[in-house]
Amino acid sequence: MRLLSQLHAGANELIRKRYPAVELIQVPLDGDVDVTVTGDGLVTTGDARNVVQVAARVPWVHILGTGLDRLPDEVFSVPILTCGRGAWGVPIAEFVLASMLVFEKQMPEIWLREPPEAWNSAQLGGLSGRTVGLIGFGGIGQAVARRALAFDMSVVALRRRNLPPLAGTQMVASLQDLLRVSDHLVLAAPLTPATFHLLDRPAFELVRPGLHIVNIARGRLIDEGALREALDDGRVARASLDAVYPEPLPPGHWMYTHPRVRLTAHISWSSHLGTEAAIGAMLANIGRQLAGRPLEGLVDPDERY
Ligand SMILES: NC(=O)c1ccc[n+]([C@@H]2O[C@H](COP(=O)([O-])OP(=O)(O)OC[C@H]3O[C@@H](n4cnc5c(N)ncnc54)[C@H](OP(=O)(O)O)[C@@H]3O)[C@@H](O)[C@H]2O)c1
Repeated sequence: MRLLSQLHAGANELIRKRYPAVELIQVPLDGDVDVTVTGDGLVTTGDARNVVQVAARVPWVHILGTGLDRLPDEVFSVPILTCGRGAWGVPIAEFVLASMLVFEKQMPEIWLREPPEAWNSAQLGGLSGRTVGLIGFGGIGQAVARRALAFDMSVVALRRRNLPPLAGTQMVASLQDLLRVSDHLVLAAPLTPATFHLLDRPAFELVRPGLHIVNIARGRLIDEGALREALDDGRVARASLDAVYPEPLPPGHWMYTHPRVRLTAHISWSSHLGTEAAIGAMLANIGRQLAGRPLEGLVDPDERY
C-alpha cells in the first residue's frame, strides 16, 4: 500500500513501525503537489491548505479528528472518507462530568481564603437523581452516558438515527422532548446543516429553568443571541462553553465576562492520553485496509459527519 501522509513525524513513525510494508509518502501541508504523487490512501488532519488537491489523488482519505465542519466540500466526494469518530470520548466525557460537578458543587466558589460567615452551612447540589440530556449519542455522548450512569443520573439522549439505547439510558424522538426533562444538557453532535442553531429561541423557551448547558461540540449549534437572553433571565443558570463561534473569540466578547458563562478555549479533548486514541483509530483503519476488511469511522457525505 502506498499511503500519503500530512501528519506529523511522530504519527508517521508509528505507521512505519506498525506497518513496515506500507510505503509512506510525506506530503506538504501547503502548495502544489506534483501530479505523480498518488497513493492508495491519505491520512491527514484535514487542515492542510492543499487537502482538496491531495485528496483527489487517492480512493480513501482518513481524517485524524472528528469535527469535519471545516473540511472543504470537495473532500466529501472522495470514494471513501473515514475519521477518528469518538476518539476523544474519554477525555471529553471527563471534562463534561467535571463541568457538571463544579456547577452542582459550586466549585471553586466554596474554597476558602478567609474565615466564612458560617461553618457547616451550604446549599450544594449534586448529580444523583438529576437528568442529563445528550444531543448526540456517538463516541462522546455514550462516554458521557456511561459516566453519568455511575453517578446515578438519569440519561436521556437524542441522536439522528433510530437506534436502540445503551442499557440504562432512554432515547427521545425530538429535541423538545429532551429539553423538557434535562437538568444538564450536553451538546455532543457534529455541526451540520441539520444541527446549525439547533438551540435557538424556540428551543430556549422549552428548557427547564436553571438548566446547565455544556457545549463541547461546536459553537454554531447554539444561537448565541438566544443563549444570551436565556442566561440574562436565568432560564439557563450556566453555560459551560468549550466550543464557541468564532474561535478564537475576539477580545471584549460578552462571553468572557458573563457571570453565568464558564468559557474554555476548545481544550476539552486534552488529557494525559494525548492523541493516542485518534492515532490508534487511524492505525487500526490502515490495518483493516491492508487486510481488505471494512473500515470504521465511515463518514456519510450527505449527512456531513
Ligand atoms: N471540543 C473538542 O475538543 C472536540 C473534540 C472532538 C470532537 N468534537 C465535536 O464533537 C462532535 C461529536 O463527536 P463524536 O466523536 O461523539 O462524534 P460521533 O461519534 O460521530 O457522534 C455524533 C453524534 O451526533 C448525532 N447526530 C448527528 N446529527 C444529528 C442531528 N441532526 N440531531 C441529533 N443528533 C445528531 C449522531 O447520531 P447517530 O448516532 O444517529 O449517527 C451521533 O450520535 C464532533 O462532530 C465534533 O464537532 C469536539
